[in-house]
Amino acid sequence: MGLKVIILAAGGGTRMRSDLPKVLHPLGGVPLLEHVVTTAFSLNPERVLVVYGHGGGQVRARLDEIHVDWVEQSEQLGTGHAVQQVLPALSGEDTALVLYGDVPLIEARTLQRLLAATGRGDLALITAQLEDPAGYGRIVRDQAGNVLRIVEDKDASDEERAIREINTGFLAARGGALRRWLAGLKNCNAQGEFYLTDVIARAVGEGSAVHTVSPRVNEEILGVNNRLQLAALERWYQRSQADRLMLQGVTLIDPDRFDLRGELSAGRDVVIDAGVVLTGRVALGDRVYIGPYSVIRDASIGTDTRVESHCVIEDADIGPGCRIGPFARLRPETEIDGGAHIGNFVEVKKSSIGAGSKINHLSYIGDTTIGREVNVGAGTITCNYDGANKHRTEIGDRAFIGSDTQLVAPVKVGAGATIGAGSTIVRDAPPGELTLSRTRQETRKGWKRPVKKGRE
Ligand code: UD1
Ligand code: CA
Repeated sequence: MGLKVIILAAGGGTRMRSDLPKVLHPLGGVPLLEHVVTTAFSLNPERVLVVYGHGGGQVRARLDEIHVDWVEQSEQLGTGHAVQQVLPALSGEDTALVLYGDVPLIEARTLQRLLAATGRGDLALITAQLEDPAGYGRIVRDQAGNVLRIVEDKDASDEERAIREINTGFLAARGGALRRWLAGLKNCNAQGEFYLTDVIARAVGEGSAVHTVSPRVNEEILGVNNRLQLAALERWYQRSQADRLMLQGVTLIDPDRFDLRGELSAGRDVVIDAGVVLTGRVALGDRVYIGPYSVIRDASIGTDTRVESHCVIEDADIGPGCRIGPFARLRPETEIDGGAHIGNFVEVKKSSIGAGSKINHLSYIGDTTIGREVNVGAGTITCNYDGANKHRTEIGDRAFIGSDTQLVAPVKVGAGATIGAGSTIVRDAPPGELTLSRTRQETRKGWKRPVKKGRE
């Protein structure tokens, strides 16, 4: 007699007008269905059963690493029919909890209240009061306030349509009772579907009391049918994450222009400027500043580091007291030690940059190890790719690389070496010495510029 969570996710989602199954559209960077599955598992259920249909292969592949039981509903004949598909997995003493793959923000606390209400009878529902209840099933109660039945919008009389208490779809019931109520369900209604909502009248007919609970906020029960609703829910979700972060002590210069698609851990007095997008797992140390319109994915940034505007950082580890950007691009497997500076139009990939080193302007550093306090001049390029393979560049501590240098890898520059500006370095440069490759400068005395014909 455990908890079995049933997630209905077989619907087509035609109104999304998408090749991607609706439940895979992301909210806060995570597929709608994954939000629901995560909430389901937080209730410690015995099993989570996902009823799938449309785009089943894609849905299963995307959620491959999550251990749910997949139950196919090959024809979508209605919500009642969908729940019938999981009956073989339900025992009489189980509690069945029905969730929806396209209603992503239901909270575990609300579901716990629903389960507690189910414990007091055979059936409980989450209902909500809506300003505009159009389209939803309505909760019909008797004069004493007891739930009698649910009537679908399309089957409702004008009087019933005026009811503002709606069926959210979320319900929990005892397995044996649910099986009984679902047996012999009919589809003689406006949509020709087998309605899960018809079980309510059956329960009432048997003398069962139907309890109801309300969500904390209505956004919990809002479903996604089209991209307008998806965008509205995304904004609400982002704003609630922003509010939580601000209450935890993060300054958001404009909480309405902040997007977190994953998880952020932030130290004290972190400041995040307008238009920042954080994805995956991002960790920011105390007093980190992130400038406007920077995009950061899966990165950790040390205390007192400033990331100026318009940086793109992905899978990088940045130490304390660094200065990054504006307009810097840090690509995967980049490690930057404390106090380093990475300036504008500098791209760093699969490289480690030692403490206090500076690459301030217009450079590409790939597959490179740079020591401490190295100065890399403007326009330096590591030529790491020979068209077939990638090769490494190594630059020792306190080396000075003159501007517009090409380092043709594999190549090493020794500690304390100086490379003259404009050099193409193809062999190792010894430590402590000046190395340069440069054609001699000449001046041609009395030389005249060519003149356009016919102008003499
Ligand atoms: C349903 C409820 C309605 C409620 C509303 C809340 C019924 C009959 N009606 O209506 O009272 O107000 O949700 O949003 O239950 N699904 C399947 N297989 C099917 C049919 C649906 O898996 O055969 C899934 C859909 O993917 C969707 C959910 O069930 O996630 C709800 O189905 P939908 O057709 O949207 O129901 P509504 O008509 O909105
Ligand atoms: Ca719906």
